[in-house]
Amino acid sequence: MLKVCVCVSGGGTNLQAVMDAMESGAVTNAEIVRVISNNKNAFALERARNKGIDAVAVSPKDYGDRALFNEALLKCVDEAAPDLIVLAGFLVVLPPAMITKYQGRIINIHPSLIPSFCGKGYYGLKVHEAALARGVKVTGATVHFVDEGTDTGPIILQKAVEVLSGDTPEILQRRVMEQAEWQILPRAIDMIANGQISEYI
Ligand code: GAR
Repeated sequence: MLKVCVCVSGGGTNLQAVMDAMESGAVTNAEIVRVISNNKNAFALERARNKGIDAVAVSPKDYGDRALFNEALLKCVDEAAPDLIVLAGFLVVLPPAMITKYQGRIINIHPSLIPSFCGKGYYGLKVHEAALARGVKVTGATVHFVDEGTDTGPIILQKAVEVLSGDTPEILQRRVMEQAEWQILPRAIDMIANGQISEYI
């Protein structure tokens, strides 16, 4: 059984999709052992607790400096002893020590077709604002392994989504979630849990 730790910052709809997929059997051989948020008020924590999953907040506000926060975050992850860390809307720059320690065992969902609209400053609604400003007709989502860069690690899955006339960033964000993110994130976890990804160590 693959032990999964999910890191979240906000609403947690991707977390919900993963939990639902585990419940329905769309994801097998995997269980969520802990959900961690940098935001105490994240609704994602409530979603986890509603399912009886251990949910913990580690907020930078509670620590004197970044190094102390990084240490606390890594400790919180280590305690869960995960085989896989899933960043599901986790808007925190990961501690370098965490990336080194869990190399090849951290995945992220990004709401665009990497390498478009990714990297520093591209997160959440900003990604969709940029896609609309550029006038692309197709966007989508990407699940990738996390390395030292921002959105630079090996790509696992991508799914394209149409941009329609009249789209606002919010409408496009919702379509990308429904048609891409909520499908490919659970699928990537299932593939890893069932030994279908060769890069996975
Ligand atoms: C999702 O759209 C996710 O792809 C994005 O944040 C949102 C979180 O929503 N992540 C990034 O932009 C990372 N660069 P959720 O909390 O409802 O899952």
